[in-house]
Amino acid sequence: MKTIADLGDLRGKRVLVRSDLNVPLDGQSITDDGRIRASAPTITMLSQMGARVIVCAHLGRPKGEPEAKYSLAPVARRLSEIVNTPVAFAEDTVGPAAEAAVAALEDGDVLLLENLRFNKGETGKTDAERAEFAGRLAALADVFVSDGFGVVHREQASVYDVAKLLPHATGGLVESEVNVLRRLTADPERPYAVVLGGAKVSDKLGVIGNLLGTADRLLVGGGMVFTFLAAQGHEVGTSLLEADQVDTVKGYLERAEKEGVEIVLPVDVVAADSFSADAAHDVVAADAIPADRMGLDIGPRSNELFAEKLADCRTVFWNGPMGAFEMEPFAEGTRALAKTLADITAGGALTVVGGGDSAAAVRQLGFDDSQFGHISTGGGASLEYLEGKELPGLTVLDSDEVSDEVANGKDA
Ligand code: 3PG
Ligand code: MG
Repeated sequence: MKTIADLGDLRGKRVLVRSDLNVPLDGQSITDDGRIRASAPTITMLSQMGARVIVCAHLGRPKGEPEAKYSLAPVARRLSEIVNTPVAFAEDTVGPAAEAAVAALEDGDVLLLENLRFNKGETGKTDAERAEFAGRLAALADVFVSDGFGVVHREQASVYDVAKLLPHATGGLVESEVNVLRRLTADPERPYAVVLGGAKVSDKLGVIGNLLGTADRLLVGGGMVFTFLAAQGHEVGTSLLEADQVDTVKGYLERAEKEGVEIVLPVDVVAADSFSADAAHDVVAADAIPADRMGLDIGPRSNELFAEKLADCRTVFWNGPMGAFEMEPFAEGTRALAKTLADITAGGALTVVGGGDSAAAVRQLGFDDSQFGHISTGGGASLEYLEGKELPGLTVLDSDEVSDEVANGKDA
């Protein structure tokens, strides 16, 4: 992969940077700026090299047209504070505002374009549907730097197609994320455990299938665990259950047994009478969830069990909260797990927390990034990497599909 250094002298060059600035917002206020902080070093470096830095990013999932609540304007303000330099903001992505803002850039200036997904072409299903928008993005710049690790699994105009239209390089964030994840797939130090949580097991099936071949232990919590408990024949009350996945999960449990992968499930859960912070709730055995109760967190004995199973691990990857941590009565499982990971990190293990949501969860629960080996900015992207899938945003950087005509024919 080419890095920024391979792009040569960037002074005066217009550099389009794809970052992942998809941060959680409460109205106009950013509740976790981890992705902005993670994206800042590449932007600062380009600016210090004298490039004219044009940052593009998405926020949320608008449907191809402008929607005020998904504007990146608050992100531009926060980015400006973090990179400690004014960040101009264009009120469209490739239209007249963007063109004027790009034309006004001087060497070292930084500009953020409005949400890429306000344009239908960004997420078009076919190359043809994305081509026009990708072309307009590319026309704004001389070179492209791919630094949005959280989106490299998306075949989208700003991630994939634009790299074919401009000379390109991998940004420092994508580089460092890939380097860490590579350590998990190529010969991880053992025991290697993976902890999976979050609501939906169907999102994780691919990765589970692949992990049965590489991990020594698989610990499961969060909403997805009830499909595992059901696969073991237990009643799960009104808990989240993906009934159509029960058979697949049964198959995984059998395969795990054959391959010698230990699957660790909670032995108790915090069961509530409704999905709310003030719901009545008790700790019940995982195989005795009352019919009218829903499990919203793993219980205290499970927290101890998970800590024991992780204590001797040398490598741990974690994705997805253990419970409905946004509500304090159901936050303990996630907090206890984060504490266990912080402890084994201090003991020298490599711990990787994957995913914007999991990363935001640990910070919200009062942990600091430095307590873990690596906090990935990509949830889906890191899972798909571990799954062994080809990530379009990475493969496109490897190939030198940019024709000489494209590479040389642009007037800077
Ligand atoms: C994320 O939040 O996982 C990334 O920014 C990708 O967003 P997406 O899942 O909407 O493509
Ligand atoms: Mg996501």
